[in-house]
Amino acid sequence: MAKITLSVIKADIGGFVGHSSVHPRLLERAKECMSKTELLEDYHVTHVGDDINLVMTHRHGTDYEPVHKLAWETFLSCTEVAKELKLYGAGQDLLSDAFSGNVKGMGPGVAEMEFEERKSEPVITFMADKTEPGAWNLPLYKIFADPFNTIGLVIDPKMHAGFRFEVHDLKENKRVFFDAPEELYDLLIFIGAPGRYCIKSIYSKTTGDIAAVSTTQKLNMLAGRYVGKDDPVCIVRCQSGLPAVGEALEPFANPHLVSGWMRGSHSGPLMPVSQKQSNPTRFDGPPRVIGLGFQIANGKLIGPQDFFADPSYDLAREKANKLANYLRSLGPFEPHRLHLDEMEYTTMPQVQEKLRDRFVSLEDDEAAVAKEE
Ligand code: 13P
Ligand code: 13P
Ligand code: MG
Ligand code: MG
Repeated sequence: MAKITLSVIKADIGGFVGHSSVHPRLLERAKECMSKTELLEDYHVTHVGDDINLVMTHRHGTDYEPVHKLAWETFLSCTEVAKELKLYGAGQDLLSDAFSGNVKGMGPGVAEMEFEERKSEPVITFMADKTEPGAWNLPLYKIFADPFNTIGLVIDPKMHAGFRFEVHDLKENKRVFFDAPEELYDLLIFIGAPGRYCIKSIYSKTTGDIAAVSTTQKLNMLAGRYVGKDDPVCIVRCQSGLPAVGEALEPFANPHLVSGWMRGSHSGPLMPVSQKQSNPTRFDGPPRVIGLGFQIANGKLIGPQDFFADPSYDLAREKANKLANYLRSLGPFEPHRLHLDEMEYTTMPQVQEKLRDRFVSLEDDEAAVAKEE
């Protein structure tokens, strides 16, 4: 049997209401578009916050033009509905009018992996809203490199050799590989700066198999103007020499701070929630993550299992709410507000321009005082 490809392609093509969720009619339209094709083995349409996620299985490999085109046309078709309902930011993530062979660089986020379907193939698709691709760095590090999170690294002979990380420099558009555990400290100096360096994929050092892949596009950089944060997706394969499902879910029990939230310009806790609770409201947040599990059986998506619906994440949600409360009390001050070069948009240039003449060089000032003396 040909290898299976799991493709998750996502886009925000209009929020209901504001940036909080997706209108049911868009989801219906997306399902309609997906159901008409012969290209796919299976599909699942869902949303996290205002982002539509198309989870697709097929036999054509990654970067396969017709699959990307199908996703593109699905989003275009949904945009018609979004415009009709005047949803907020209708067509927000579709940066071009014409499809040019691959949705990469055109707005939608893409995470794809091709692999031999194992005897049993559990996968988790993590999807987040109101944050950016670097949000996966910390959990992926914990899942694949931290023995305090993943006991399999210590006691499973098929995991003991560790994993290889592919990291992208989003600013310079470069990639680099690191072997863990040997190069942990080199890896961490980069991925600890998630606004610039993102984990793109992870491979088992024992088998060479792909274990994880994420979306890494920076929409704001692509567009050169404010078009929303690049709400990211990540796929993790589990079990039998890869992290157990519970090991892959474990990092989300301690909400970490990510960039995004209101106007893509704030730091906030990533709150694990059920799919139904994935509609950010408070200050357009806090940022949310859902984890949907599937067993892939002969290309079919058996699921989803909505992992963060579990009460064992109640304390994580409570902690996220407490962190959110504290951070909100800082208002427009850093570190709640992001650093100047991280904000999605800012009035700084206009305000600077307006006040240009009122800024006096301190050196001139000192020189004047010295002269008087
Ligand atoms: P506008 O209201 O000007 O679109 O910008 C705010 C926003 O929605 C970003 O969150
Ligand atoms: P999205 O990136 O989810 O559209 O959110 C935009 C925003 O600025 C929310 O305040
Ligand atoms: Mg939006
Ligand atoms: Mg969004």
